[in-house]
Amino acid sequence: MRRAKITIIGAGNVGATCAHWAASKELGDIVLVDIVEGLPQGKSLDLFEASPIEGFDAGIIGTNGYDETADSDVVIITSGIARKPGMTRDQLLETNVKIVSDVTRKAAEKSPDAVLIVVSNPLDAMVYTACKVSGFPTQRVVGQAGVLDVARYRSFIAMEVGCSIEDVSALLMGGHGDDMVPLPRYTTICGIPVSQFIPAGRLSEIVTRARNGGAEIVGLLKTGSAYYAPASATIAMAESIIRDKRRILPCAAYCDEEYGVGGYFVGVPCVLGRGGVEKVIEVDLEGAERDMFSASVSHVKELCKAVDGFLG
Ligand code: APR
Repeated sequence: MRRAKITIIGAGNVGATCAHWAASKELGDIVLVDIVEGLPQGKSLDLFEASPIEGFDAGIIGTNGYDETADSDVVIITSGIARKPGMTRDQLLETNVKIVSDVTRKAAEKSPDAVLIVVSNPLDAMVYTACKVSGFPTQRVVGQAGVLDVARYRSFIAMEVGCSIEDVSALLMGGHGDDMVPLPRYTTICGIPVSQFIPAGRLSEIVTRARNGGAEIVGLLKTGSAYYAPASATIAMAESIIRDKRRILPCAAYCDEEYGVGGYFVGVPCVLGRGGVEKVIEVDLEGAERDMFSASVSHVKELCKAVDGFLG
């Protein structure tokens, strides 16, 4: 059987860490691409040289071009500039639209059947950019945001309760970070509603911390943004696609009639399998949840309008 092939564009912190997780899970052969000469070659060689020690079996190469990426099953887009302290994700928009549209065009031409996973920020606008530029069917374009936001939320809940992270199950929807829609009704610990462990006021502080989880890391690092958890979240999605696991993961997926969104990428739970987004799961939302989700969708629409302006 042919091994899966994964292209990762951007060999910076998130891209290189994606390569690391993907190699250690033996998801397939990896091609790391970056605009900086030597960077993807150096990082991929370094990672490959760890394989005899770690015992993973994966081809890993680095390149500044796209020929080597041909016929990839999954293309992960992390190229772009990262946030500096005080910057919002939206302030990255203009620069990252140019970068993401350029790399998408080149990668899509070489791998017309791939599933694109977009990680660059502002996420909801970058998925839209990648979809428009690639011309791919919408189910083969998906953004990484929800898996990370939920992971942060679950981490903070486990820290608060003092229980294993394994037993915390949660769902968040909407846009990445600031636009996140918390759903405490769907948060459980070993199947027990979270309200039996954490009072509502304290839970809302935890939601706020998760909402600002990216900024918290930017504030600590000062020279860049988070990468371990974002990369781990991305590779969980890639694994579900490559191994056709059909996991239900919160992702930025195309919704038209779903939730009445009308043709934008927003954070919703969906089934991820070999075909990409195989199904969007429609969750019942109550009054305030629905209002927050609508506000989130409105923000995504505004960002996409700005993207249309830049793409011309
Ligand atoms: N083609 C290929 N690579 C590019 C291009 C391009 N046109 N432009 C920039 N890059 C590369 C940079 O050279 C750099 O190596 O993208 C990489 C980005 O890496 P970092 O600066 O380390 O940023 P990182 O922390 O990896 O974040 C990347 O993911 O989470 C998001 O907000 C984050 O948008 C940011 C992205």
